[in-house]
Amino acid sequence: MLVNRPPMGWNTWNTFGSEISDPLIRESADAFVESGLKEAGYQYVVIDDCWSQKLRDPQTDQLLADPVKFPQGMKVVADYVHGKGLKFGMYSCAGQRTCADYPGSFDHEFLDAKTFASWGVDYLKYDFCYKPAGMDGPLLYRRMGLALRASGRDILFAACNWGSDDVWSWIRSVGAHIYRSTGDIIDNPASYRNIALSQLEKLGASAPQCFNDMDMLTVGMYGKGLVGSSGCSDADYRSQFALWCMCSAPLMLGCDIRSMSDFIRNLVTNPGLIRINQDAEARPPIAMRHPWNEKLLTLLKHLDDGSYALAFFNLDETDGECFATFSDFGLPAHAGYDVAVHDLLDDSPDHTYREYMRLPVPAHDCRVFLARLVQR
Ligand code: GLA
Repeated sequence: MLVNRPPMGWNTWNTFGSEISDPLIRESADAFVESGLKEAGYQYVVIDDCWSQKLRDPQTDQLLADPVKFPQGMKVVADYVHGKGLKFGMYSCAGQRTCADYPGSFDHEFLDAKTFASWGVDYLKYDFCYKPAGMDGPLLYRRMGLALRASGRDILFAACNWGSDDVWSWIRSVGAHIYRSTGDIIDNPASYRNIALSQLEKLGASAPQCFNDMDMLTVGMYGKGLVGSSGCSDADYRSQFALWCMCSAPLMLGCDIRSMSDFIRNLVTNPGLIRINQDAEARPPIAMRHPWNEKLLTLLKHLDDGSYALAFFNLDETDGECFATFSDFGLPAHAGYDVAVHDLLDDSPDHTYREYMRLPVPAHDCRVFLARLVQR
């Protein structure tokens, strides 16, 4: 199965935790279409932890859907999602229990992969709680990697071992298509910043067919839901979304997509930002810090058509001026080229810069441009 671009979708966990149900999934699938998410490229509707009964079927050993949350089982939910032209995702865990204490897939990998395939699952998030003592973590991902391939259905393998066991070095080899690289995101500015900054140096290992997953977005949560804490400002959500795009990270929304504000809907469907995220080459950005304030960050990402994404982030608590010297990106002052930029977020007029760019960026906010070199 080819996963050429970072997957885009929605996952239940951040907002709903264990409060999931058949109607919630149907309503969210409806919202995918009505809000324009589907048209913008979002595809996967993913049910996270807490969907099953607490024990397996005593006769068949199969996982069983919770009869209260999903009274008609999972197949009809998958059918509904497919009927909207979307793809359906579910969750299990490499250990004996899931993180929220439901049955895990340990020693049942091939049976569970077959079960998921029979329900029409297109995406499996595979968590890492309750690993039996002494078991090798990477081996458990090898097992599910093979089991999914043997299942008879194309299922995107979303590994989720939080960056443990030096995941960058082996995860591609087990057939995973995306891999969670950090602990769980929380809906506050420090959390998304720490996650993004912790991965900047590690993105060399992230590429088509196996992308670094920086966790579900908290964009649009405003402190509500399971992983909500203080919440973030609109400026923060802009920065979070832009960082995920610059890093070619999967765009899995975690807010309640049935009730997104216009600001959030426009942000997460911004064609320029999505174009950056979905760039075919998925190259890691070159990162530069302001000479004396390292919280002013500039990223430059090569794009597949010879243009560049150029993004300025003010990760500080006060308004500031971001600064980039083009020579740091490989363009010496005397090379004979200037840099023409087009603003992707704020509609400022196109502009051409020589040698460097300096621009005001409010605290927590960002500016994102499409850039190209122009001969003088
Ligand atoms: C772990 C994962 C989260 C979520 C929960 C569910 O913490 O990292 O993303 O799936 O488990 O219990």
